[in-house]
Parts: sequence; structure tokens; C-alpha cells
Amino acid sequence: MPNEENGIQILGIGASLRKGNSNYLLRRVFESASELPFPTSVKIVTLHGKKIHPCVGCYKCREKCGSVLKDDFQELFLKWLSSDVVIYSTPVYHMSIPGQLKCFFDRLGQSVTGYCNVRSARHLKVVGTIVQGAHTAGGEEFAALNILQHSVLMNCIPVSGDGWESYICAAGSTKNQNTLDAMEKLVILSLRLHFALAVACCGARQKLLQLLSAVAKP
Ligand SMILES: Cc1cc2nc3c(=O)[nH]c(=O)nc-3n(C[C@H](O)[C@H](O)[C@H](O)COP(=O)(O)O)c2cc1C
Repeated sequence: MPNEENGIQILGIGASLRKGNSNYLLRRVFESASELPFPTSVKIVTLHGKKIHPCVGCYKCREKCGSVLKDDFQELFLKWLSSDVVIYSTPVYHMSIPGQLKCFFDRLGQSVTGYCNVRSARHLKVVGTIVQGAHTAGGEEFAALNILQHSVLMNCIPVSGDGWESYICAAGSTKNQNTLDAMEKLVILSLRLHFALAVACCGARQKLLQLLSAVAKP
């Protein structure tokens, strides 16, 4: 929940296993967090150098709150739980998301069930997506759809950017134009997404949580 001391908790998850474009975009977007008209606390986590093993289907993470396989999942899981806003920045892999991010989603979905001790917890985190691949029409929207589906499944609030160049996510390709130009264009799109997220976060999430707390356990 947002609190007055720390402000809105924004978590950026860089889904590339390289130090490359996805993580660069996240860093650039969060440079502007201090311009937001309310206090924020920003954490960036990158999957670069992290180990997140695939789910083995044992269902034990439901009992043990995600703490079954010994790797970097638990730390990321706890950060995800305590955030109000999550921004994923991902490369396209094989017209989809990288396997490491899929491993995180698989385990997250199972672990929250145990952690929250309810069947379908209303997390209501505001979620935005930045996607880039090497080629135009190389699968950016498919990768974004994976994250959109994940967000809906987790009872979160996916948002788009606020312009026509930014439909369900901030997306672009890096190789068909001068790479630096392409990245700068994406930074601008991603910033729009960032501000759209901020507005959605201040409005929708807090109102929904208030409503829900009046009628049910979140
Ligand atoms: C395993 C793998 C699969 C990829 N598949 C695609 C693809 O389907 N479509 C595409 O446009 N680019 C694809 N790419 C290219 C990356 O998306 C692109 O180089 C991106 O800028 C890498 O981002 P990063 O620097 O954040 O890792 C692929 C790259 C790798 C390593």
C-alpha cells in the first residue's frame, strides 16, 4: 500500500539477462521519477546475473510462500509484493518474452496463492510495459501481450501509454534505424507510459483498494 513516509513504491523489472537496452530504458525512465507530483520510492531489479529456476510443478511454494527453490526468486517476489507500480522492460525473445521472465511469472502466480492465503488476491498493482526487439514487427506486441495477460491474471491494472504511438505498451525496434535514435524515441514513449502509470496509480489503485477494503479482504 502507498504510505506517506515512502510514497508510491515503484518497481522496475529489467527482464534482459544482458546489461543492454531494456535496463538502459528503465534507468532513463526512472531518472524522471523525482519530477512526479507526489513522493515515490523507486527500485530497479534486473534479471542480469540473477538465477530464477523454472517452476518444477511441486506446488510447495503455496505452503512455503515461494521459498522452495534456492535462487534469486524470493527476493524479487518480496519486492513485487511490496510495490504499488511495476514497470517491466523486456527484450523480445522468439516473438515473446525471455524464458527467465516467464519462469518468474510461473512461480509468482503459484507463490502469491500461498502467501496471501486467498484464492484470487486483488493485488491491483498498476503495471506498464516497455518492449524492444531487433526488428519492426518482430514480436513486440506479442511480448507485451504476455505481460498484459500476466497482469490481468494477477488482478493488477495494466495501463498503456498516453499517446497514439504507445498503444498497449511502449514498444520499438532497435536495428532498423540508427540504434541510438531508436532508443531515444523509446525513452520518450516510455516516459509517457511512466506518467500514465503515475496518474493511474494515484487514481485507480487507491480508490479500488479503498472500495475493496470496505467490502472484502484484499
Ligand atoms: C534468444 C533471442 C531471441 C530473439 N528474438 C527476437 C525476436 O523474435 N524478434 C526481435 O525483433 N528480436 C529478437 N531478438 C533481439 C533482441 O530482442 C534485441 O537485440 C534486443 O534489443 C535485446 O535487448 P537487451 O539489450 O535488453 O537484451 C532476440 C534476441 C535473442 C538473444
